[in-house]
Amino acid sequence: MSAQILDGKSIAADIREQVRMQVEQRTAAGQRPPGLVVVLVGDNPASQVYVRNKQLACEKAGFHSELIELPADTSETALLDLIDDLNGREDVDGILVQLPLPPGIDEHAVTERILPSKDVDGFHPYNIGRLALRMPLLRPCTPKGVMTLLGRTGISLEGQDAIVLGQSNIVGRPMFLELLAARCTPTVCHSRTRDLPEKVKRADIVVAAVGVPNFVQGDWVKPGAIVIDVGINRLEDGSLCGDVAFEAVKEVAGWITPVPGGVGPMTVATLLQNTLQAAELHAGRG
Ligand code: GUN
Repeated sequence: MSAQILDGKSIAADIREQVRMQVEQRTAAGQRPPGLVVVLVGDNPASQVYVRNKQLACEKAGFHSELIELPADTSETALLDLIDDLNGREDVDGILVQLPLPPGIDEHAVTERILPSKDVDGFHPYNIGRLALRMPLLRPCTPKGVMTLLGRTGISLEGQDAIVLGQSNIVGRPMFLELLAARCTPTVCHSRTRDLPEKVKRADIVVAAVGVPNFVQGDWVKPGAIVIDVGINRLEDGSLCGDVAFEAVKEVAGWITPVPGGVGPMTVATLLQNTLQAAELHAGRG
């Protein structure tokens, strides 16, 4: 039997509409719209596409949004000074510095410079620490979006064995924390993990975020498992594919996300939720 599709595109559209209505209510009550500033350093083509999508979504939701584009040779000091300015601006609720940054700029220093209440990416050690302590505030967008998708299956997460493939700061690690907070039993695997297919086979939930096209094979997956594909890989022919061999895995899994149209749109919708949350925090209603 073929897996049910977790349609991230349509779930994200629902969330974006909810956010748009909440923004409408705010502005009708005389409050300013939430404000997001996206900072893009350099000319990474994938980042340019992601940033454009984020900006368009902000505009459609009624946010105030600004894009600041800086050349690849921008110094770390100049970027930190810009963040200080944005931290001090009352009309800015969220600051997003698109990653990766060009060589020579320390991503950790940049992430830590953003005020935690404006860190709509949820990457600041304060926000990661709060998630680790089960007192989340602003949560990283992609893992939070994955939790929303898991919720849409209607399956109780408590006690489920979950496996996360990839240990990045953006996805793998916060994904582990999210699953743990939801009372799953998560395992994180990485390039040194032994017997990976066997470990995947034991999991009720698989989250793949390794950046390798079609990595997860059909015969690795437990029948009925929920398979979430965070990968977005561009093949030589220009087409997109995920980290999961979709055609084979969908014959085994119970639920599966497509690429494109799965996790990607959820990341953008969750960014809108986080920016609205930050605006509410700044208005003293968080
Ligand atoms: N690069 C890839 N994903 C992300 C993300 O969610 N936020 C930022 N800032 N950069 C990214």
